[in-house]
Amino acid sequence: MKLFVSEGNPHCLKAVAALEVTGVKCDVQYVSHEERVVPYLNRPALPALLLPSGVHLFSTNAICRYLFEVNGQEPSSLCNQWLEWEATDLQPTVLQALHLAVLQGKGAEASKLLQAPLSYLEQSLSKGKTPYLTGEAVSVADVVVWAALYPFMSDSSLALGEWKCVKTWFDRGALMHSFQSAAQKVLQGKGLQGMKSYMQRQPAPQSSQSRETAPCNSSPAECAQAEESERAVSEEEMEAAALTWSKGLTSGPSPHQRQHPVLPQEGKRNVLVTSALPYVNNVPHLGNIIGCVLSADVFCRYGRVRGWNLLFVCGTDEYGTATENKAREEGLTPQQICDKYHAVHSSIYQWFQIDFDFFGRTTTEKQTEIAQDIFWRLHKHGFLVEDTVEQLRCENCQRFLADRFVEGTCPYCSYPEARGDQCDKCGRLINAVELREPQCKVCRQTPVIRSSKHLFLDLPKLETQLENWLDKSTGAGDWTANAKQITRSWLRDGLKPRCITRDLKWGTPVPHADFKDKVFYVWFDAPIGYLSITANYTDEWEKWWKNPNQVELYNFMAKDNVPFHSVVFPCSLLGAQDNYTLVNHLVATEYLNYEDTKFSKSRGVGVFGDMAKDTGIPSDVWRFYLLYVRPEGQDSAFSWADMATKNNSELLNNLGNFINRAGMFVTKFFEGCVPQMELLQEDKKLLAVVGWELQQYIQLMDKVKIRDALKHILNISRHGNQYIQVNEPWKRIKGGDADRQRAGTVTGVSVNVACLLSVMLFPYMPTVSQTIRDQLNAPQSVVSSALQGGGTFACALRAGHRIGTVSPLFQKLETDQIEALKKRFGGQQPEDEPPKRKKTTATAANAQAAAVPAPSAAAATATAEAATANQVDPERAKQLTQAVAEQGEKVRALKAQKAAKDVVTAEVAKLLDLKKQLALAEGKSPEPAPQKGKKK
Ligand code: 2FM
Ligand code: ZN
Repeated sequence: MKLFVSEGNPHCLKAVAALEVTGVKCDVQYVSHEERVVPYLNRPALPALLLPSGVHLFSTNAICRYLFEVNGQEPSSLCNQWLEWEATDLQPTVLQALHLAVLQGKGAEASKLLQAPLSYLEQSLSKGKTPYLTGEAVSVADVVVWAALYPFMSDSSLALGEWKCVKTWFDRGALMHSFQSAAQKVLQGKGLQGMKSYMQRQPAPQSSQSRETAPCNSSPAECAQAEESERAVSEEEMEAAALTWSKGLTSGPSPHQRQHPVLPQEGKRNVLVTSALPYVNNVPHLGNIIGCVLSADVFCRYGRVRGWNLLFVCGTDEYGTATENKAREEGLTPQQICDKYHAVHSSIYQWFQIDFDFFGRTTTEKQTEIAQDIFWRLHKHGFLVEDTVEQLRCENCQRFLADRFVEGTCPYCSYPEARGDQCDKCGRLINAVELREPQCKVCRQTPVIRSSKHLFLDLPKLETQLENWLDKSTGAGDWTANAKQITRSWLRDGLKPRCITRDLKWGTPVPHADFKDKVFYVWFDAPIGYLSITANYTDEWEKWWKNPNQVELYNFMAKDNVPFHSVVFPCSLLGAQDNYTLVNHLVATEYLNYEDTKFSKSRGVGVFGDMAKDTGIPSDVWRFYLLYVRPEGQDSAFSWADMATKNNSELLNNLGNFINRAGMFVTKFFEGCVPQMELLQEDKKLLAVVGWELQQYIQLMDKVKIRDALKHILNISRHGNQYIQVNEPWKRIKGGDADRQRAGTVTGVSVNVACLLSVMLFPYMPTVSQTIRDQLNAPQSVVSSALQGGGTFACALRAGHRIGTVSPLFQKLETDQIEALKKRFGGQQPEDEPPKRKKTTATAANAQAAAVPAPSAAAATATAEAATANQVDPERAKQLTQAVAEQGEKVRALKAQKAAKDVVTAEVAKLLDLKKQLALAEGKSPEPAPQKGKKK
């Protein structure tokens, strides 16, 4: 094993420290900063660890972790959580601070930047009460965090502030011989200045304008903790909450009135949001809806209420083989298919209340214009290469065959029904031309092999540019973990040229004379749809799409779309060199299953967009449940029984019940007018708790943790219900003056909490949100004032305010109703159905894979790898899901009864353990255990 490092490189300090601490036997070679140690990378990557197998590791934290593993120290989940924090939060800040301190001599500014991570570290250490980050012994987490901070902590000229616990922890490391020796070796005792020559060679880090000042730990486990542990509220917090409350609504900006076209504005946060363009030839199912348009819609509604200047565009993805085939199936022209299904999509999204600024389509003149412009630019700058490819052509059908339209005998295992892209028996990826006895799936004739000339996007030539951009974008933006991981796995093996042309008719024509019978491959063409759809919305579209300094771009999608948005499309835009806006935040969901299986149109399994409205369940309830189970961080499942449970427990008994009671008390006991309120400590405590939940909600929403944020809304109504329950206004209203006053205060506070909830609910359940405000006769201004300027809980409905007519918001879902729906949508397997391919490897790439074999293999491999990395046990997962739900109920009940603390703690521990087992059964790594009392 050999470790390559360079002097003065802050990343190398970590690797050398890990080596010293673990004492693993390994040669260390010092090289220059520019040395390209890893042969297949276009850029120098140091440190790099050459393993005995010949493989190189070149991610610093992976190297450190590896050394610890070799030493027999597997990282715990808490340790992984620290590593993740170091990589995504601490490191970008440290690099920026190094830049300021080392190259610009701005030590004060550097130390200011470091305050947020230091404060986080301080809090964690003080709560953890262990000498090291993860326990009693030094772990890889200590090594990387210590080494990251070393240059600053060891420089006494920097005023980093009084961080007592951090200092004790840091000094403990500094006293260890291994740490000292590593620092001496890498920095030569020169401290910060020892890094100057390294820093001079690095691109200036992007300023973290959109990064948070404090790290946000929004893992579901920690979110669960917010729900599961009683938070102690200090006197100061209560007083502060009461003060905010008493100020009432600030006369903030009036509710957002949209004026089309929405265009970027100076001095505003200009946010451009896209959701992946759904294929036109299918009716979207619930999984498609939550993955793209619904998630994006929630974020956009939130952003608008938050006062951002935001544009949300989407549309149907209309070109490609799949559309041609659908047209053949239905006896229509491709254009007719597109028109028909575009309307179907539009009406489904309308029913789901997806509030696009514009919902367009890709088969437009603007698309041709912009796609061809990008093509010529790539051509001009030398990023297109020609190559000849062998393809199967069916002379009978007169067309080249997309991989999945060919069947034959697998060249590896002789399975007779292998497809052109993959064998279902042995699972190997196949090139269609390698199939033995190939057949056209449509007419069963034998296709012939034809060679054809194609154009390829020269990804290897763009790789360095791409990586530089990716470093910045993923460092400063909010990319979901799966998006980063899938992107990394694509880059790991180096990029290969990708074919961007196809021998089809239904597509954007390639304008080059040598390729005049060809069209662009859908995956080159489709993302350009974002631009052309915006161009159909406004002539000034370039203000959004060629304006990276003023615009922040969010892309929403399911994980199978990631490589096209993080690698291929950015390469097209980088190569075209026209100052395009590239994605800043790539938000990818995992998959949503249907009950314990997959959605399947052909088997009639699952709920498809057009069917949801026939169930009689309101659109808002559908939205709520889909968002409640949003596959955020891990796959999840739609389940009818669970939907009924969540509707009946969370919406009806918790949220609806609270809002209805609050309103009814005003109506029944105070003739519809909000009573006078005189706050006692108990009320102030509620205000503080609600304010805290609101803050969590805002932090999570800002980070697009939509499912996690929803839980904080439900927490508020739970607190509200408890508050009413304890204070019993219905009894006190019958008592003497003091009791009546108390009933008035509790009622007034509660109805104001209900009003706040209406605002927080707006992104999730727009109709319910409006209904609540109508019932409370709340001024429109509450919508913006609660969330703008950081978000505060103020008294919006003052004493004397007259509310409207209150009525129940939700209806119970009955068991027989749910059983009937389950039967109706469960689906039966038709007897004559051919064996189904394994769905785990179905990707967007091969779903539309057309007749060019070689380049798509990379896509298939990467995604197959992402999908099969974890072993899943659906049966056990199902049992565990049930067990988790039951245990959750138990914990909640115990808390509601105010059971003894140790009883609750024991049950919470059981719950967390069940959740961990569930994560494993779902093939995920379990979430890190929550740290007690850790603040966000
Ligand atoms: O997977 C899909 O549904 C694709 N139609 C998404 C395209 S997104 C973008 F590139 F247009
Ligand atoms: Zn044929």
